[in-house]
Amino acid sequence: MRDSAPQTIHLADYTPPAYWVEDVHLTFRLAPTATRVLSRIRFVPNSDAPGRFFLHGEGLTLISAKINGAPVSPAFVEDGLTCAVPDGPFTWEAEVEINPQANTALEGLYRSGGMYCTQCEAEGFRKITYYPDRPDVMAPFTVRVEGSDPVLLSNGNPVAQGDGWAEWHDPWRKPAYLFALVAGDLVAHRDSFTTRSGKDVDLAIWVRKGDLHKCAFGMDALKRSMDWDERVYGREYDLDVFNIVAVDDFNAGAMENKGLNVFNASAVLASPDTATDANFERIESIIAHEYFHNWTGNRITCRDWFQLCLKEGLTVFRDQQFSADERSAPVKRIDDVLALRARQFREDNGPLAHPVRPESFVEINNFYTATVYEKGAELIGMLKRLVGDENYARALDLYFDRHDGEACTIEDWIAVFEETTGRDLSQFKTWYSQAGTPRLDMTDSFADGTYTLTFRQHTPATPGQPDKAPMVIPIAVGLLSPNGSECVPTTLLEMTKAEQSFTFEGLEEKPVPSILRGFSAPVIVTRKSDNAERAFLLAHDTDPFNRWEAGRALAKDALVRMVKEGAAPDAAFIDALGQVLADDTLDPAFRALVLHLPGQDDLAQTLFDAGVTPDPIAIYAACDSMADAIATTLESQLASLFDAMQVPGTYSPDAEAAGKRALANAALSLLSRRDNGARAQVQFDGADNMTQQLAGLGALIKQGKGDEALQAFYEQWHDDRLVLDKWFGLQCSLAKPDEAANVAMTLTAHPDFEWKNPNRFRSVLGALASNAAGFHHPSGAGYTVMADWLIKLDPVNPQTTARMITVFETWRRYDADRQALIAAELDRIANTPDLSRDTAEMVSRIRG
Ligand code: PHE
Ligand code: ZN
Repeated sequence: MRDSAPQTIHLADYTPPAYWVEDVHLTFRLAPTATRVLSRIRFVPNSDAPGRFFLHGEGLTLISAKINGAPVSPAFVEDGLTCAVPDGPFTWEAEVEINPQANTALEGLYRSGGMYCTQCEAEGFRKITYYPDRPDVMAPFTVRVEGSDPVLLSNGNPVAQGDGWAEWHDPWRKPAYLFALVAGDLVAHRDSFTTRSGKDVDLAIWVRKGDLHKCAFGMDALKRSMDWDERVYGREYDLDVFNIVAVDDFNAGAMENKGLNVFNASAVLASPDTATDANFERIESIIAHEYFHNWTGNRITCRDWFQLCLKEGLTVFRDQQFSADERSAPVKRIDDVLALRARQFREDNGPLAHPVRPESFVEINNFYTATVYEKGAELIGMLKRLVGDENYARALDLYFDRHDGEACTIEDWIAVFEETTGRDLSQFKTWYSQAGTPRLDMTDSFADGTYTLTFRQHTPATPGQPDKAPMVIPIAVGLLSPNGSECVPTTLLEMTKAEQSFTFEGLEEKPVPSILRGFSAPVIVTRKSDNAERAFLLAHDTDPFNRWEAGRALAKDALVRMVKEGAAPDAAFIDALGQVLADDTLDPAFRALVLHLPGQDDLAQTLFDAGVTPDPIAIYAACDSMADAIATTLESQLASLFDAMQVPGTYSPDAEAAGKRALANAALSLLSRRDNGARAQVQFDGADNMTQQLAGLGALIKQGKGDEALQAFYEQWHDDRLVLDKWFGLQCSLAKPDEAANVAMTLTAHPDFEWKNPNRFRSVLGALASNAAGFHHPSGAGYTVMADWLIKLDPVNPQTTARMITVFETWRRYDADRQALIAAELDRIANTPDLSRDTAEMVSRIRG
């Protein structure tokens, strides 16, 4: 409950803290419903910014407070307390009581599966004790944990322990959002790592006993991440221990708390029989991501939450580089662009569009977005492309050198690049402040051996930003001769104006352009090329990304014509697809990506951009009949591919084997349309790993033959929460359009639907939303189930509710009837009494 209207916070209003913290001592006396937290904090006035003494605090019961040993009576003010303090440095001591058991929001100290754990980013520490809970206040922490659990963990290095207590000391100054504490009956999967300067680090992944067999892959990924950061960025680990804990109840993927990363169980636990190839890949990237935060986020942190992309964009970029190095770089790039388009472009082209560095917010938790993370990473990639690899490495060295131990801004970040290269990057900075996805148009001409490319850029208006300035756009271009050979290798063009031409001389004939190679900038190319050119690029481009992109464009064009004009599936597209599939020089993972049709949400946006109101049911039907046509035309080829891509022997999640399975399973999904699920049933029955089992199950469900398999799957796996999430999810995401809402409703009544667990909630409601035609069924039933559950979850877990409500962010694309149905549900949510600040902000931004 709030007593006053939520405040909007502005970047422009930043002021430094009035007091610095020199040192923090915390003692936790753990008890499920009445935990005592004792704090002893040394404050020093900031002579550069004198001001009132203020400590954040939320939901705390203050038992006692002292300054320099003498009792004080602080005044409670909005969001915390204030108190008269002496001039000069002083020691604040407080004892507070909190109730972890009642904490269902999963922010602060809470209980999950019988253990205690914490989540403090962004502003959860204020739910643990009174503190200046802002990232620019950094301090060393000493923590004593008292409790009856055998394992008592906190940040930093272990100092001492005894029966019922443990002490930890983190020597590295850190903001409170990186604080963590875990206590429980846990066991460890242990290993060790020796840094390149010879320091031994004890590594442990802490889990409940039954999960010990699911830790090996995460541990291996951790060691590879530690090694990679040393080799590629010259960054070594800096404590004696590195602990990871798996928890069942977690709002996000994982959290980079110093020396004590807390992970959603789904982001770390994996065994071949319970996790899919995609799960393994995700786990590897999240382990890397959190580990890389140790330097980009922890050693160098953010001055304020507006600078969130400083740590997140850079760390996502680093984890993407890592995965590209560990696996196939082209396949990784395509996967990342697919995710960027599905999540970030969707956000950037709707009511929630905001700059990579937002300028205001009501609830910071609402800004852990695809724009801050994924577009933020694209900005780093563009910077690297613009300055070159060597300058990038020098700029990063300077960044680590200069800012170690500091809380920084995007200005600090840009400055290291400007100083390293002597370039003026002020125009580049627009990428941080201007929301929206730039549209890039192109025309070309050829005369007397000179080929001219003319680009035009335009960024559509976004909420609060009607007019846009031209951006610096790095456009990687290659040119191909009509005979298919490359006549100009990849060249980086730097576009800085609204319209700009570039020439290539000495060419014998008009070349075929391959533009935006490697997706060199997060823009939408609006140029209409014809299908002959796309087919040519799909066959000949030397840039794997653009090769895939050409196939994608062909698929989209064919599907759009089916939806718009009732066209038949394009035979030329299917033929081109067949040629790619037959090319054994191409990586199976790459061929699998080409074989996957564009997503239905992506097609809806494409139609909308073309001025057509998308009908999700018509899009579904088009995709369905395209898949039928592919399966029919390419049946024998798919059948031999399916056989050829079987991976014999013991399961291994490595990229090569996973790529083969991806191609085999893409083929299986199509072939099931021809064999009535026969192959899928065989695969499901005989599978010795989750990838194969789940692909078999999915294909059976799609053929309407999944009932028995679903039952068998449930019986086999109902004790494994993560696998059971898949069972829930698959039924919702694969349900037929007119059944999806009902399936979701039925599943929410299932005894295993533990709705307060975010993973389980998402496995039904998130999966329903991913089923575009089911969610947007004209009955509106999908919207109603969703709204009912969001209203129910909001008082329990505002963060997960506010995140999930983005399923409605595309509502303005649709017809008047659907818009009216969605508007009614949004209004119903908005009018719910005592709606959380998180959800209230989101619903009002989406509703507009
Ligand atoms: N900082 C975490 C990450 O990106 C994400 C996170 C944010 C987790 C807020 C929990 C709460 O790695
Ligand atoms: Zn992160």
